[in-house]
Amino acid sequence: MKSNERGKSKFKNVFICQQCGKESLKWLGRCPDCQTWNSFVETRVTSSRAPSQLYSRGNRPQELSQVEKGDFPRFHLGFAEVNRVLGGGLVPGSLVLVGGEPGIGKSTLLLQISAMMAENNKVVAYISGEESINQVKLRSERLGIGGKGIYFLSEPDLAAVLECLEGLSPELAIIDSIQAMYLEDAAGMPGSISQVRECTWRLERWAKQNDVPLLITGHVTKEGAIAGPGTLEHIVDVVLYFEGEPFSSYRVLRSVKNRFGSTHEVGIFEMGDRGLIEVSNPSQVFLSAYKDGTMGSVVVPTLEGNRPLLVEIQALTTPNNFTPPRRIANGVDFNRLLVIIAVLTKRAGLKLFNQDIIVNVTGGLRVNEPAVDLGIASAIASSFRDAKPISGLVALGEVGLNGELRGVSHVERRIAEAIRLGFKSCLMPRLPPVIASEVKQSLRSADIHLIEVSSVAEALRLGLTRESKMQNAKGKNTGQE
Ligand code: TYD
Ligand code: MG
Repeated sequence: MKSNERGKSKFKNVFICQQCGKESLKWLGRCPDCQTWNSFVETRVTSSRAPSQLYSRGNRPQELSQVEKGDFPRFHLGFAEVNRVLGGGLVPGSLVLVGGEPGIGKSTLLLQISAMMAENNKVVAYISGEESINQVKLRSERLGIGGKGIYFLSEPDLAAVLECLEGLSPELAIIDSIQAMYLEDAAGMPGSISQVRECTWRLERWAKQNDVPLLITGHVTKEGAIAGPGTLEHIVDVVLYFEGEPFSSYRVLRSVKNRFGSTHEVGIFEMGDRGLIEVSNPSQVFLSAYKDGTMGSVVVPTLEGNRPLLVEIQALTTPNNFTPPRRIANGVDFNRLLVIIAVLTKRAGLKLFNQDIIVNVTGGLRVNEPAVDLGIASAIASSFRDAKPISGLVALGEVGLNGELRGVSHVERRIAEAIRLGFKSCLMPRLPPVIASEVKQSLRSADIHLIEVSSVAEALRLGLTRESKMQNAKGKNTGQE
């Protein structure tokens, strides 16, 4: 501590919730913020954190009008998908947190980014608190990375890491992972809230003082937050989440906070034998196995961030007269599925009470936006009624409890993507007159038939072909052929 902190070094003991980082002067059995039981741990904190030396180094307030326009010289990484998610490249001095579940591919992504920077003659420091040099060498060989220009250090002690960074003066530094790092003079075990926060804070200061971009990885907790919500996210400049279903090879890099760009961007990757490969035309990839007019299968133009992405939603209904019916949702929200089934039963007259229903988004993607509601509803109805969707159809719209359809955002962008991939009709909620003419005008030359409907029942009437077999109300097997 003594070597790093100058002047007053006041300690105080506080209790910190290990889940959300709430501080309290006395021990509490349950956190009033996140409601977790038994999460407070007594922690010794120093109160000399404020970087007050900045003033003594000549840092003064300036009138904004006198400031020259800041022009971030961004580093362009080899992955165009990563550049886009970062808002156009990596800003020097920025601290970027890449969060994700263990094993999702964070280390792989950062090693590949390191290699791309090193190829541009940049010096890269790769610090791992988790893996040995041999493990990383093995991975880099697998990825076909020679390693010239990448300096690796396996070290969990952050004071030593900072010393190494000072000595090396890299142009990009990677810390893998923040939970593995510790500081002697901070309280708690490595990975505890106080350690993680203190380490991130020091790294942030190092990055800013040296104007070097720093990428750190963080494992997410069961609840899906990085070491407790809100604890790191406001210290760092950029927060990216690396996500994917365990059984799928696709990975999505999503920005949830970005001080240098929009948070509406996503990058899509595929994990292969030789690391991550960018997927630059995701709609085509996710629809590669889609066959037009398949029973129980409907394509929906969703938005991933700002980018339209066509996904295939499949549903399978099978009669089950013996046990309470089961509902399985893969890639869509389970509660949303229950709502849609209830609406189909009550507002569209589909007798689904004795049907097991499985809904699946192909490719292992997760879609959460309400715009997929109509796609889910049509897929279920298609399977249940044995009626194919009409040829070349995409469906779009939020379903309300009265069976009405609600509008969705960025209709043009979604439809344009559907047109690009050759779809012929779009089943969608009626457009409000204000935007209807605008949308139609922008799509005028394009060859797509907009089927505007106001209710789910109407959507099913127009979007599905006539029943190919007589629907047996008692629920004879009406699943896929
Ligand atoms: P890793 O980057 O170690 O994950 P994290 O740092 O997020 O914990 O990735 C580990 C997984 O990635 C592991 O299950 C194997 C898989 N993988 C591949 O499929 N192909 C590859 O080329 C590499 C390096 C890893
Ligand atoms: Mg790792």
